[in-house]
Amino acid sequence: MNLADLNKVALAMVTPGKGILAADESSGTIKKRFDAIRVESTEQSRRDYREMLFRSTEAMSQYISGVILYDETIWQDAADGTPLIKLIEQSGAIPGIKVDEGTQALPGCPGELVTVGLDRLAERLKKYYERGARFAKWRAVIDIGQGTGIPSMTAIHVNAHALARYAALCQAAQIVPIVEPEVLMDGDHDIDRCYEVTERVLNETFQELRLQRVALEGMILKPNMAIAGKKSAKQASAQEVAEKTIRLLKACVPAAVPGIAFLSGGQSDADATAHLSAMNRIGNLPWNLTFSYGRALQAAPQKAWSGKAENVAAGQRAFTHRARMNSLASKGEWKADLEQKAA
Ligand code: 13P
Repeated sequence: MNLADLNKVALAMVTPGKGILAADESSGTIKKRFDAIRVESTEQSRRDYREMLFRSTEAMSQYISGVILYDETIWQDAADGTPLIKLIEQSGAIPGIKVDEGTQALPGCPGELVTVGLDRLAERLKKYYERGARFAKWRAVIDIGQGTGIPSMTAIHVNAHALARYAALCQAAQIVPIVEPEVLMDGDHDIDRCYEVTERVLNETFQELRLQRVALEGMILKPNMAIAGKKSAKQASAQEVAEKTIRLLKACVPAAVPGIAFLSGGQSDADATAHLSAMNRIGNLPWNLTFSYGRALQAAPQKAWSGKAENVAAGQRAFTHRARMNSLASKGEWKADLEQKAA
């Protein structure tokens, strides 16, 4: 492992003013997104859609530091035969790859999940590196249940263990791991319950990372924010989300980690941007804070595109706008009135 090079890539992924496009939806997830805009999900429609994003020159060269790809996409060619991964490299962004293989029911813990995909991961990483991937992503999913038992310490532990196993294998393959322990915002819990569960999850994750000798300088953390569940009657203000998320991260994330790139997790586009900007306005942080958004970057372009070739320019405008708003947020410079102006 060359830690100096891993650290260089990690820092480039969280350069202020830039963030990560999470375009790594599995075939099942992208089908759900396409169903919502009434587009049939085929190998070609998925290619056309992602090609539209990767050819958004302004967004890709100025606001996007890296793109997380799904396995299908990393091997796909654009309509003119150029590999999609080359489009990303040509724009100056870094290609990355989702390497987990989704979740399975966790035996003994009804309702809880464990992320799988460690078998043969070392060989897969080698192939992805040869293809050009310089970072990877593995997502663990922790649900907050209504009762007291979920999440169980078992679910938190096995998921943290798998995240650390994955991260160690990535670094051995000279690939920067994005470590993503996602605490879902699906429930009706308040922000303090999210804080408390996320604190346990992050502490366990870093404990495992240390045990398995992962070099913190050569990784990126992709956490959820401290935020109320979607169904909670008690929604927190942007300022409260920002302050509690920063307090939580300072308590749990060592300063050796070069950067933190948030998931959007089902927040609205504007909320995801406002929260990131409010956190960066607090300032004086030991790590760079940016975005690694899927839905909050892609919902608008998906709608504008709607599967029609004549809408490609509109889709690219919508993507560029969201990428620019989040770029400003990564520097704490986003303002609500910038949304209307460019829309
Ligand atoms: P969302 O921003 O839509 O949560 O997706 C980010 C991601 O990569 C989830 O794994």
